[in-house]
Amino acid sequence: MLSLKNITKKFDGRLAVDGISFEVETGETLVLLGTSGCGKTTTLRMINRLEEPDSGDILLDGKSVKDFDVQELRRGMGYVLQNHGLFPHYTVAENIATVPNLMNWDKKKILNEMESLFEKLNLDPTIRDKFPEQLSGGQKQRVGLARALITQPAVLLMDEPFGALDSITRISIRKELKGLADFQEKTIVMVTHDVQEAFDMADRICVMDQGRIMQLGTPESLLFDSSNAFVKQFLKDQRLQLELKTVKIDELKSVLPVEWYMNSGFKSGQSVWEVLEDSLASGDATIPDPGMLMKGFFSFKK
Ligand SMILES: Nc1ncnc2c1ncn2[C@@H]1O[C@H](COP(=O)(O)OP(=O)(O)OP(=O)(O)O)[C@@H](O)[C@H]1O
Ligand SMILES: [Mg+2]
Repeated sequence: MLSLKNITKKFDGRLAVDGISFEVETGETLVLLGTSGCGKTTTLRMINRLEEPDSGDILLDGKSVKDFDVQELRRGMGYVLQNHGLFPHYTVAENIATVPNLMNWDKKKILNEMESLFEKLNLDPTIRDKFPEQLSGGQKQRVGLARALITQPAVLLMDEPFGALDSITRISIRKELKGLADFQEKTIVMVTHDVQEAFDMADRICVMDQGRIMQLGTPESLLFDSSNAFVKQFLKDQRLQLELKTVKIDELKSVLPVEWYMNSGFKSGQSVWEVLEDSLASGDATIPDPGMLMKGFFSFKK
């Protein structure tokens, strides 16, 4: 478990991070969400000690990060940067092998792990000997992920990991990652300013503004249980879509007619959004009455 306890950080006399505390359970994904300059990257960089806090403490499984050897601490934490952060003069294989080489892994083990990551991350193995500038944005980002994952760190820190990608590539990498067992087991802190991405990836979301936490909770609680004007305003433009994605069809049982349930062919666990999407994609009326579904959704919200 990762705990931040009342962390502050000033740059040139100005507070960039102002009393942040949160805990991330083992295996949980916490997303830091907020507009530019609110202190997301600084918070993340204090976890792996690329910045030192002015006050407060950060504990990893009960031990202060200050008490770790800094290199050892960073090896236990994968770090994915917005613009991939690959070394331009290293090939793909050399980039991915950087930390394993520092840890004196034998060549065979490095090659095996690399091969398996290429497969999991949908990377074409022929790019191994290419340099970063010869890759597409999506490939570079996948290589950055492979580099962070190869030593199987328990903690993964990701700073806008999909920020430089087009929306289609971004959504498909997100889906792939979420499906990976390696990924699901990790304790993850991810930074984004993209509301949809936060809702898509997070177990819990920490909304930040001017170095402070405005609200921290599950996606559901941010949407349906927020007395916070800042958070409401922040989610305003995308609220309907977020709600449709967050509410599960099973939750509407009490507000939809029994016939609708019998005839509509949805899968338990699907969000209302997914049911609507399936219906559109199939082109036929798998939903007997989408209007009734929406009516049910709005009466559920009341
Ligand atoms: N090394 C630094 N020196 C001086 N000021 C800094 C430094 N790093 C960050 N800051 C300032 O601290 C504040 C928070 O920056 P930070 O990079 O954490 O924001 P962010 O939320 O990650 O923003 P973005 O979404 O634009 O990446 C900003 O006002 C920034 O200018
Ligand atoms: Mg940042």
